[in-house]
Amino acid sequence: MQPENLLLQTDGPVALIRLNRPRQLNALNDALMDELGQALAMYDADEAIGCVVLTGSDKAFAAGADIAAMASKDYMQAYREDFITRNWERMRSMRKPVIAAVAGYALGGGCELAMMCDFIIAAEDARFGQPEIRIGIIPGAGGTQRLPRAVGKSKAMDLALTARLMDAAEAERAGLVSRVVPAARLLDEAMDAARTICGFPRHTVMMAKECVNRAFESPLSDGLLFERRVFHSLFGTHDQREGMAAFLEKRQPGFENR
Ligand code: HXC
Repeated sequence: MQPENLLLQTDGPVALIRLNRPRQLNALNDALMDELGQALAMYDADEAIGCVVLTGSDKAFAAGADIAAMASKDYMQAYREDFITRNWERMRSMRKPVIAAVAGYALGGGCELAMMCDFIIAAEDARFGQPEIRIGIIPGAGGTQRLPRAVGKSKAMDLALTARLMDAAEAERAGLVSRVVPAARLLDEAMDAARTICGFPRHTVMMAKECVNRAFESPLSDGLLFERRVFHSLFGTHDQREGMAAFLEKRQPGFENR
């Protein structure tokens, strides 16, 4: 059954999740985030899926958490219901890669959701920002932590304190997005990247993701040790032998995900 606030579709090993509340510029409410968490869990568990693409509409990836749904919350309610943590954090435990394909606005929680993905491909018209300060709050889904890690302290402060938006070119220069493409090419580019990833051994992809993420969680020496252990473990796999033999024999590898 299709969820109410998402459009789900698969193309071979690639799952495409489209945020679908266009009239509210994909404002992220509980119902949508519940459905997103369920969809991510489903694709993470599905052996047939190798990569997920998350996108929005032409006008907005997501214009933030749903302000109408938040406006009447008081402190005790936000705390007791574990607002944000309860249904926004599923993305963090995804073991398969998730690519954000961002067109239009990615603001507040929308920018934070994009940053939770493994990398961001942006359309030329994409605009990123953490403008929560305008409505009397601060970023609450990781914006004060992931944005400085992505773009450095100065730009993160600028965005969070002045509420100004950053266009796609600036976001690419700053390192927030991996590539900027014409809007008409956005989905093709993201799906192509996902298909490329799916052509590599599944476990190797997951291990590479795990290692890169470790860079944000540990001191360099621990991160290097973690990487080295994972790297060594790949010499126990069929696909390492196959990949290297194929290179030396000048042929395409036949990976078996083992
Ligand atoms: C609820 C929203 C919304 C939002 C837009 N809409 N953003 N509804 N929550 N975050 C609704 C509008 O109310 C309007 O509904 C419809 O979407 C179209 O928006 P407009 O404002 O008419 O469009 P436009 O003039 O083109 O301006 C686009 C915009 C503006 C610049 C993106 O909508 C805007 O500033 N939105 C809020 C951005 C923001 O502050 N985001 C951070 C939210 S806080 P109607 O019914 O009037 O047509 C947040 C907290 C994060 O994200 C921490 C926890 C996750």
